[in-house]
Amino acid sequence: MRVGVLTGGGDCPGLNAVIRAVVRKGVQQYGAEFVGFRDGWRGVLERNVRELGVPQVRGILPRGGTILGSSRTNPFSVEGGVEQITGNLGSLSIDALIAIGGEDTLGVATRLSDLGVNVVGVPKTIDNDLSGTDFTFGFDTAVNIAMEAIDRLHTTAESHHRVLVVEVMGRHAGWIALHCGLAAGANIILIPERPFDIERVCGQVESRFATQYSPIIVVAEGAVPASGTTALVSADVDAFGHVRLGGIGNWLAVEIEQRTGKEARTVVLGHVQRGGTPTAFDRWLATRFGLHAITAVHEGDYGTMVALRGTDIVRVPLSEGTGELKTVRPELYDEAEVLFG
Ligand code: F6P
Repeated sequence: MRVGVLTGGGDCPGLNAVIRAVVRKGVQQYGAEFVGFRDGWRGVLERNVRELGVPQVRGILPRGGTILGSSRTNPFSVEGGVEQITGNLGSLSIDALIAIGGEDTLGVATRLSDLGVNVVGVPKTIDNDLSGTDFTFGFDTAVNIAMEAIDRLHTTAESHHRVLVVEVMGRHAGWIALHCGLAAGANIILIPERPFDIERVCGQVESRFATQYSPIIVVAEGAVPASGTTALVSADVDAFGHVRLGGIGNWLAVEIEQRTGKEARTVVLGHVQRGGTPTAFDRWLATRFGLHAITAVHEGDYGTMVALRGTDIVRVPLSEGTGELKTVRPELYDEAEVLFG
């Protein structure tokens, strides 16, 4: 059996751990052969492949990024894209595909599966916003990176009696902001799911200063002021129609300074959250996802996605993972709010 493997969308720590587990188990247990597609769906469209066997996956478990490369290519927005994909899979004698990706990459996998392509999905994203799975790998690493940054920012904020606004990733879901904010003792956490009242935020800033502490505000890049608009860096959209976000942190710092008279600075963590070596949890999760994904392929259980439920790895229909984004439930945010201000 020949299996194609691809990684698509924004990279995240743990992608290489999945690839390693898929290849190691596939070769050892099922005698499978592998073909690596470069740069996500673009590699399948352009027939751009690389060798993928046990020697190629040695030593990659702790490495961030992806040895296969990634892109946000959407074959459904390319004319003749689907025919190109099925043609290339045929000419390369690929029996099945393992697609490792988030909402967009697995959305393409779902549509291709509906058209008869044999595909199994593996959910990844630092945003943790895929349904059907308790966690995606990459998320824990991003949260830990952000938590460590906030731990450091506390001491410098205190020394200068400043407000520090920390902007983290998460355009539709505030999982990273909520988890790192709780873990690092942020004084205010702002997420896309709950538009915020700037007056209230300023009140919380002032009450924090009144107790002789300096406030740390964690804001997800997709957070919006009530009745405001999402902060954009550029109006350009990618192949899946996503705009580039970034800017809400700076906007907040300016507003807070003007309204409270307190000095405020912004730290945008950006792609630091996606880089470097995965945490133990993400290596564990990614490895187990890989082991289960190749077994799903071996058993011909296509159109599925591996998922974490509690501590078990299960299979769910691909459409369950990509149908609806998993956002922060109101009660989880309410629970954290008692610590604000
Ligand atoms: O989807 C993961 C993610 O890191 C989001 O949190 C963020 O909005 C986006 O990707 C940034 O994408 P890019 O790779 O284009 O910088």
